Amino acid sequence: MSALLQLASVETDIGGSRILRGVNLEVNSGEVVALMGRNGVGKTTTLKSITGLLPIRTGTIMFDGQRIDQLPPDARARAGIGYVPQGRDIFPHLTIGENLRVGLVVHGRGRVSDQEGLEKVFSLFPVLKEMLSRKGGVLSGGQQQQLAIARALLTKPKLLILDEPTEGIQPSIIEQIGDTLKKLKISNTSEEEATAQARRESAEIQHAVQELKKERALAILLVEQYVDFCRDVADRYYAMDRGAVVVSGPIATLTDEVVKKHLQV
Ligand SMILES: Nc1ncnc2c1ncn2[C@@H]1O[C@H](COP(=O)(O)OP(=O)(O)O)[C@@H](O)[C@H]1O
Ligand SMILES: [Mg+2]
Repeated sequence: MSALLQLASVETDIGGSRILRGVNLEVNSGEVVALMGRNGVGKTTTLKSITGLLPIRTGTIMFDGQRIDQLPPDARARAGIGYVPQGRDIFPHLTIGENLRVGLVVHGRGRVSDQEGLEKVFSLFPVLKEMLSRKGGVLSGGQQQQLAIARALLTKPKLLILDEPTEGIQPSIIEQIGDTLKKLKISNTSEEEATAQARRESAEIQHAVQELKKERALAILLVEQYVDFCRDVADRYYAMDRGAVVVSGPIATLTDEVVKKHLQV
């Protein structure tokens, strides 16, 4: 059986520099695959090469039986690739409901009321239903991330690509934001509350990935720094270093030695 996604010898340049130096990677249907590696090794560049946001120099990318590496990003999305980029990719001035609808409109399904899809994402992320008419911009980092994942799920992808979904809701970062707010004297949550909320939100996103995995209805390619999260949820992993995959295998083979050698700072 051939893989749902297959990258073979993919090389990608950014601004004349070789960033990917021959990436080989596969994701099978229904599988959760973790793409790991230190900062700057080329994880996001790999994802952008898959989604078409960056052109590849050489190599091939196959998805669901067709070669996609020369297709524009929207055609790759329609083929079944859902992408949640690093950072918060939501419209701050639109409500949650509007943000969700935008995802469908972009997919040419704007007129279809996808009640079943909505119920599904609300069961994964109940907070979105509770806050449906609130503006995206007032949500916490974790809630914005949930909204971005929900919007991608509504397009019913065969492959969901998540770039560091728990990044930016780490307590440390929340604390930094808390410090800044305090300096500006507009804080209304204590640092402790913010830290507790960050933990809860990270856990909610991890829970959602686990729920999605149970059904095996879609494959997930996940870039994530949290080794424990990857061990918990992934079937297999790839670790990158300087633009190439240096080690890969079943998640059980992600030993502390591998973590120390390729992943720890
Ligand atoms: N827009 C850009 N211009 C120049 N260099 C870039 C750009 N984006 C990424 N890079 C470089 O490409 C390398 C890989 O980046 P990236 O794929 O974002 O890494 P990762 O996601 O693994 O942290 C880094 O060395 C980074 O500096
Ligand atoms: Mg990145």
